[in-house]
Amino acid sequence: MEPIKAIAFDLYGTLFDVHSVAAQCDRQFAGRGREISMIWRQKQLEYTWLRTLMNRYVTFEQATRDALRYTCKHLALDLDESACQTLCDAYLRLQAFPEVPEALRQLRGLGLKLAVLSNGSPHTIGAVVGHAGLRAAFDHLLSVDPVRAYKPAEQAYGLAEQAFGTGRESILFVSSNGWDATGARYFGFPTCWINRAGNVFEEMGQTPDWQVRGLDEIVQLFSATA
Ligand code: 2OP
Repeated sequence: MEPIKAIAFDLYGTLFDVHSVAAQCDRQFAGRGREISMIWRQKQLEYTWLRTLMNRYVTFEQATRDALRYTCKHLALDLDESACQTLCDAYLRLQAFPEVPEALRQLRGLGLKLAVLSNGSPHTIGAVVGHAGLRAAFDHLLSVDPVRAYKPAEQAYGLAEQAFGTGRESILFVSSNGWDATGARYFGFPTCWINRAGNVFEEMGQTPDWQVRGLDEIVQLFSATA
C-alpha cells in the first residue's frame, strides 16, 4: 500500500451528527424529534441517489428541504413555511462529534493534508464547518456540486484526487456511511469506516481497509506508523 499523504472526510454522519437536529425538530413537533430526523436523513439520501440516477440534479439544500417536506407529510405533521425554514436552518448548525476537533488538529500535526468531500453544497458545507469553528482544520472543502452527481457516483470521488493533486492510492477516505465507504473503495481510495454504533457493514462487494469507532482511533493508526 502507498503511504497516505492526505485524508478526505465525509461530512454528514461522519464529522457531524445529523441527528443533533432532532432537538430542534422536537421543539417544532414535541416528542417526534428523533423519528423526524431518522426519516428525514434516510429520504435525503434516497433523493440524492435517485436524482443522480435520473440525471435530475438539484442542490443538497433543495434535496434536504424536499426530504423534510416528505417526512412531515408521511407523519401527518403540519409543516408551514416558517417551520420548514427553521428546521432547514438547524441543519446548517449540526454538532460535530466530540472527538473531531482535537483529532483533526492532531492529524494536521502529523503533516497530513485534510479535506471534506461531501454531497453538501458549497454553502451547506461552509456553514456547518464554519459554525463549528473548524474551517482552518481543512485544506479543502469539496462539494460534489461542480460534477452535479452525488456520491457514491465515481466522478464525485474524483474531486479529492484533483484537489490534492495526488493519486487516489495515497488518499485515505473516511466515512461513517457504509454506502459511501463502499463507493470510495470501488473508486480506489484506501478506506476507513467509522462504526460508532456497532453496525454491520454493507454487503456490496467491498470491505473497508480499516474500521474504527471514532476519529481518535485514526490518529492512533497514524501515530503508530509515523
Ligand atoms: C455527505 O456528507 C451526505 O453524508 C453525506 O456527503
